[in-house]
Amino acid sequence: MILTVQPADSGLQGELTPPGDKSISHRALIFSSLAVGRSELSGLLESEDTLATLKACEQLGARVERSAGKIYINGTAGDLESPSGGHLDMGNSGTAMRLLAGVLSAQNFDSTLSGDDSLNSRPMGRVVVPLSLMGADITASAAGTAPLLIHASGGLHGIEYVSPVASAQIKSCVLLAGLFASGTTRVLEPRLSRDHTERMLPLFGVDLPAACCVTGGSKLQASCFTVPGDISSAVFTLAAAAMTPGSDVSVRRVGLNPTRTGFIRCLKAMGADINIINQSSQSTEPIGDIHIVFSSELKAVDVPEALIPDMIDELPLLMALAATASGITRIRGAAELRVKESDRLAVMAVGLRKLGVELKEYPDGIDIKGGKVFGGCVESAGDHRCAMSFAVLGLIASAAVQIENAEFIATSYPGFSRDMSQLGANMQLGERS
Ligand code: S3P
Repeated sequence: MILTVQPADSGLQGELTPPGDKSISHRALIFSSLAVGRSELSGLLESEDTLATLKACEQLGARVERSAGKIYINGTAGDLESPSGGHLDMGNSGTAMRLLAGVLSAQNFDSTLSGDDSLNSRPMGRVVVPLSLMGADITASAAGTAPLLIHASGGLHGIEYVSPVASAQIKSCVLLAGLFASGTTRVLEPRLSRDHTERMLPLFGVDLPAACCVTGGSKLQASCFTVPGDISSAVFTLAAAAMTPGSDVSVRRVGLNPTRTGFIRCLKAMGADINIINQSSQSTEPIGDIHIVFSSELKAVDVPEALIPDMIDELPLLMALAATASGITRIRGAAELRVKESDRLAVMAVGLRKLGVELKEYPDGIDIKGGKVFGGCVESAGDHRCAMSFAVLGLIASAAVQIENAEFIATSYPGFSRDMSQLGANMQLGERS
């Protein structure tokens, strides 16, 4: 499919409630499936990634019911069923694969985790190494990628794992395995990555004896959980409003976990006119509404490396925004972008150059000079966040921007072009002619 975005002839106007947070939805589904009893989940994201997790949870024995916009999960009490054929398809979702690898490595049956071409080429050694240290028996490809053949476990033991990468997927994988291991399991990371797992486990009845630490044998208990709006989806609206003249937009009930708000801090540093109001908390997460209006003078930013984990998924969008800001935006310490759904540094560099943007790519980052953005046709490379970042840029380009393989947007935000159109954008998703 091709998404065609026409330059905006007026500003974006209105209110939006973004879809449920993807990271939190995966965890709510997995924790409920492991729990004793029936969990009630509201606001869950239903996108391709989270539906892959939901299907896997059902294959592992969780029973799912839907009623009045809620999802109820009858948990397995940790006694998972061996999936028929032993195979679980994680689609495009790295979170689903890495978190479930932690759970499955402790089970007394064999299983195989695989995904689409992108997922099957992402690094899995980063979870295979700690899980093997715990006693798991996992075979990955020679390149350290999926399919992961996870052999029946003879029992795991707790470890203290010093992760080389600030990654919530690694951290959560090891902590989930730790729930089934003997002794305690602790993860230390170079910088705090998103902490949804640590916040949510206590609500599901698991107390953490210390930061990022679990005790083996702890049983999860069913819970009632409301998923906040996904800041990683809301940001597309915020960036679009910041750069499109005449815009005035409010985004409601967005998750504002400090490990996720790096992009908001960056927007402020760039001079965006943005305000957070109605702050409260929902289940385990801080939430609030965000109001933003067009900023005529967005300026470039030098992104502090310490901020990278707090905005790792928003960096493609920051690159798009930087193309419209005055000066040179500098991003470094972001080599992780090369192993996401695509090589996001390379994909954004190729696409932005096609739209006339001056930039210089580095192994771990990019410099982007703001200026004029032209129309043209760019490739999403099967990456939802790159596709939406180019789409936002289309609003201020001098002619239409077309994004190839835009169907991947459904990975995290199936309603993206509908929501943007409701605010006044002209975006059409169509078949390739
Ligand atoms: C996620 C963690 C991040 C993020 C991904 C979702 C999660 O990945 O990029 O989109 O839900 O734990 P890493 O943990 O590999 O940084």
